[in-house]
Amino acid sequence: MAYISHQTGNPLNDYFGFASECSAQPLNSLELIGMKIPSSFPKAFLERYEVVFGPDVFKDVINGFDAKRHTWFRINTLKGSVQDAFNLLDEEKVPYHRSELFSDAGWVEFSDRDLLLASTAVRTQLVYIQGFASQLPVRFLDITPGLKVLDLAAAPGSKTIQIAGLSHPEDEIAAVEVVRKRKFKLQDNLSMHGAGHIRVFLQDGTNVWKYRPEHFDRVLLDAPCSSEGRFQLSDEHSFGFWNASKVKEMVRKQRRLLFSAVHALKPGGTLVYSTCALSPEENEGAVDYVLNSFGDCLEVQPIALDLAERMQPIGMWRKKEYHSAVQHACRLMPSEHMEGFFVCKFKKIATSNPPLKFSR
Ligand SMILES: C[S@@+](CC[C@H](N)C(=O)[O-])C[C@H]1O[C@@H](n2cnc3c(N)ncnc32)[C@H](O)[C@@H]1O
Repeated sequence: MAYISHQTGNPLNDYFGFASECSAQPLNSLELIGMKIPSSFPKAFLERYEVVFGPDVFKDVINGFDAKRHTWFRINTLKGSVQDAFNLLDEEKVPYHRSELFSDAGWVEFSDRDLLLASTAVRTQLVYIQGFASQLPVRFLDITPGLKVLDLAAAPGSKTIQIAGLSHPEDEIAAVEVVRKRKFKLQDNLSMHGAGHIRVFLQDGTNVWKYRPEHFDRVLLDAPCSSEGRFQLSDEHSFGFWNASKVKEMVRKQRRLLFSAVHALKPGGTLVYSTCALSPEENEGAVDYVLNSFGDCLEVQPIALDLAERMQPIGMWRKKEYHSAVQHACRLMPSEHMEGFFVCKFKKIATSNPPLKFSR
């Protein structure tokens, strides 16, 4: 494999508006630790995120991209009990570890992944492969039977299945997906995992609030994003698509979906917003957008989660100071246990007065 040599001169500083913010010499820290970064890895990413995180945290991020990630799973209680699932894994001698935080989750080492995938528990969909971080948004959504729930960007359906497992089959759960092929994938996944009763809509989620203003008790927006938290140095597909305008493109989509999510949520209801992006714009910037756009009708609820991967949310970026409440959100670094992730939980404390017309 070829490795890039990092240059300290940075022609992209102007593009990102970094020049005045960037006090560190870009990429020196990488040179120091002799990271093995493939030549195909986007240089603009390295330059940008060394500034976002600072050299020390940035090294940890790159180490997280380099780690052989454990395979996390969750018990799909639509197919059986937690005890049944672990018994089955025991019988087949799958060397799993149970989660210290969540009784329905566990993981295997990277080297035992194939063993887990071939197990009866996985083949019968009693055990569902789902990253640790990806399991979090629904855990913070406080789903109980009897609620109306909207999953606004649902395919391929990992979180919809998780929601179904916590709900009553009669409950109104709406799963929305805008891409036709992905909608069919979502439907298949739901049927296969015992959640075929969930209603799936092929629809642009940015419009849902118009049809169901202030209707849902819970809204999940696991937003389309730049997916930077999922990069793996050993897998070119994970980062090959990234370019400098990706973040901007995603921010536009996220703001429109957030607008819809807030107006579709009942006063008193809960919205969880999540991404697997690392950029401040898609994470703290999104929370800041909600708080500034919807004034006093939403508040951020602190997320209690004690993990080594948790880092303080970014308070300021490109001379913009974010609302202080972004500090209650949960930002996670990529590691051997998880992809990089961001989750924020909002409570709607008053009506958002959904307008008659959508204004950008
Ligand atoms: C991060 S993925 C969701 C993953 C899903 N929550 C899960 O856990 O399996 C984001 C999804 O949103 C969809 N999407 C993008 N724009 C959308 C829109 N305007 N309305 C509805 N879905 C959208 C994408 O096609 C993609 O399937």
